[in-house]
Amino acid sequence: MKLMSCSAAGAAVLLLLHCCQIASILGQKSDCALTVVEGGGADEEAELTVDEGDFEVVQPTEDWQTLKAGQAVPAGSHVRLNLQTGQREVRLGEEQLKYWTQEHRETEEIRSTISPDELKRAMKKMEDLSPDTVTSRYRPLEELKRDFAQLDLLVETDVQIMKRLLDQFNSSNSTTEQRLSILLELEYLVHQVDNAQNLCSMGGLQLIVDSLNSTDFRFQESSAFVLGSAVSSNPQVQVKAVESGALQMLLTVLATAQPLRVQKKVLFAVASLLRNFPYAQRHFLSHGGLQVLSELFRADGGGVLRTRIVTMLYDMISEKELISQGGLDLVLDASHEERVRQYSKVSLQGELLDKGWCNLVPQLLESTEHDYREKALRALLAMAPMCLDHYRSDRSLLGSLLSLRDQYQEMVQSEMIVGEENSYFAEIVELINALQVKMMR
Ligand SMILES: *[C@@H]1O[C@H](CO)[C@@H](O)[C@H](O)[C@H]1NC(C)=O
Ligand SMILES: *[C@@H]1O[C@H](CO)[C@@H](O)[C@H](O)[C@H]1NC(C)=O
Ligand SMILES: *[C@@H]1O[C@H](CO)[C@@H](O)[C@H](O)[C@H]1NC(C)=O
Repeated sequence: MKLMSCSAAGAAVLLLLHCCQIASILGQKSDCALTVVEGGGADEEAELTVDEGDFEVVQPTEDWQTLKAGQAVPAGSHVRLNLQTGQREVRLGEEQLKYWTQEHRETEEIRSTISPDELKRAMKKMEDLSPDTVTSRYRPLEELKRDFAQLDLLVETDVQIMKRLLDQFNSSNSTTEQRLSILLELEYLVHQVDNAQNLCSMGGLQLIVDSLNSTDFRFQESSAFVLGSAVSSNPQVQVKAVESGALQMLLTVLATAQPLRVQKKVLFAVASLLRNFPYAQRHFLSHGGLQVLSELFRADGGGVLRTRIVTMLYDMISEKELISQGGLDLVLDASHEERVRQYSKVSLQGELLDKGWCNLVPQLLESTEHDYREKALRALLAMAPMCLDHYRSDRSLLGSLLSLRDQYQEMVQSEMIVGEENSYFAEIVELINALQVKMMR
């Protein structure tokens, strides 16, 4: 079989294989072969003979290990692209893992794995399969996949992986630990827009929402994580999630006493679900979302949740403000009007006032963390139009602002002595000043 030359002739087959995997990891739908074929000259288009010595078959383990160029993996392995290092990594696929970690561990080889010899034989067979089909440099992905499927060497696509994971998650045979680890795998996969949408079409979203309702807090935590990642910057999935009752479920979990780690993940999911989605924001308000958050705020001594909540409120206020000013829309056309109309139905300001947020947010200034205080100041400024009367009569807020300004001005002074400019502390002083100006008017 003829294949295009890649960086290393012997590795061509493997590069093609991995290419499909990487292409699916990056969510590209483009012709896979385009990304594989490197180098130009026709003379480089050599006939690939599979030399057994050129392939090194990596035996995956339970831990991720980095794949080098020219290394092959057995079918069923889980290959991923580590986005931080740009390296491909492999470990046992779920099936293999299950088999491996159960009773067969010591007694047998992994059944679902092709042995190195089998793999090499299969590689060799590739030559006989379709000697004349490769006439173009740019073979359609489907064609490549067919070839690999025939060889039983197809690295699973994300769709297949997700299907398998969901089946296993839904199976009464899976243990709690297996199901929890499946959720983490899914969380990794749904960062991609396509994968998150496939999760919905495969019925997985409902499984996740149901699992949020689990009495085991580990399921609540991990399901909220999957949900939050799936809806992040993914409008279609945001819509599906609200339709499937995810928001009510998240609020229910938030409203009942939970470990901090669950609450953090659930807040993350709520914030992601509401972002740039006025319909969900309205829903959130009408289902008592601000009430739930205020109870959470009052109960949080450490300030970790308080800061996240205040940041979320700040984001919602400024998002609405930005839209009403025409901010994100370059052309003020019909869709802009529609957006403005939708946001105008989000009665955020009135609700914030009603639920006592004008008096709650100042409490975050009592934190000792600079970052928390900064978030509080920004939110206080954003809320100033509706909260001024409250601010003016809040003695402890006035006291906090005075003492914080002294404290930060002092820090700015000492920084100037060591020659730093435009410091973070100067920014905080500016926020305090801006707030005081508003309050004096
Ligand atoms: C659970 O395992 C048993 C035996 O291993 C099998 O017969 C059954 O079909 C499995 N059920 C599911 C839902 O996978
Ligand atoms: C989960 O299993 C149930 C029955 O066992 C089935 O009705 C449902 O379609 C399954 N859901 C998914 C997403 O596989
Ligand atoms: C959540 O679980 C409880 C029982 O644990 C059940 O009564 C309730 O109907 C479930 N809620 C949803 C929305 O599935």
